[in-house]
Amino acid sequence: MKIHVMAREEIGGFVADLFERTLASKADAVFGLTTGNTPLETGVYRELVRREREGRLDFRRCSFVNPDEQLGLPGTHPESYYAYMRKHLFDEIRFDERRWAIPDGLAAEPEAECARMEAFIREAGGIDLQLVGIGINGHVCFIEPAPALPATCFVTGIAEVNRALYAPLFGGSLEAVPTQAITFGWGTVAKTRKLVLVAVGERKAEIVARALTGPVTTEVPATLLQLHPDAEVVLDPAAAQRL
Ligand code: GLP
Repeated sequence: MKIHVMAREEIGGFVADLFERTLASKADAVFGLTTGNTPLETGVYRELVRREREGRLDFRRCSFVNPDEQLGLPGTHPESYYAYMRKHLFDEIRFDERRWAIPDGLAAEPEAECARMEAFIREAGGIDLQLVGIGINGHVCFIEPAPALPATCFVTGIAEVNRALYAPLFGGSLEAVPTQAITFGWGTVAKTRKLVLVAVGERKAEIVARALTGPVTTEVPATLLQLHPDAEVVLDPAAAQRL
């Protein structure tokens, strides 16, 4: 595991460099993406879009996969991860629509949707680079702390601590926040060829330290990074202060 600490303004460029390097060796690379505030606060998607427009990055032969979506939200809902990805990346770049998979929040059979996600990843040849954030309870994707975790994509309850965090995004109403999500399994993340975790800000400092230096446990799903053969952790000084 490599840990990089840098100013927040440098993170977008640093992560875009990792995408660029992956693409240089594999024009049909498979990229795993993430949502949340972190990619926006660090300008990761802004930088990918900028470089694509400059012709430095060509995503037309790539595949993309998003690890999670909240159940009950249509893609038209502004808080859906589908809408987020459209707005911050996919409406801005040239790519092949058939090569992007994100769980359908309205799937009639969520279990079948999980199987579809795993099949998409398998058929694409596995994920070359997966970007993740970390929740304040140590989740990655929507893999919430639990005594044991499924290896492959699954339907999860969303932890109450996170639902409370998202309530302001849903008009301040906790009832309006989805209670379940589809997410990658622990094994889906473990099998990615390169795993890139980005975290910024003081409120992530404690969980970052537990994730990177504490005992490996499904009760802190992000501790999986310690076992990953090629994990890169990108932090600003505030998030790194407890290491
Ligand atoms: C969200 C997403 C995660 C994200 C995490 C951290 O709920 N499911 O994929 O990485 O929580 O979000 P943020 O970057 O806003 O702190």
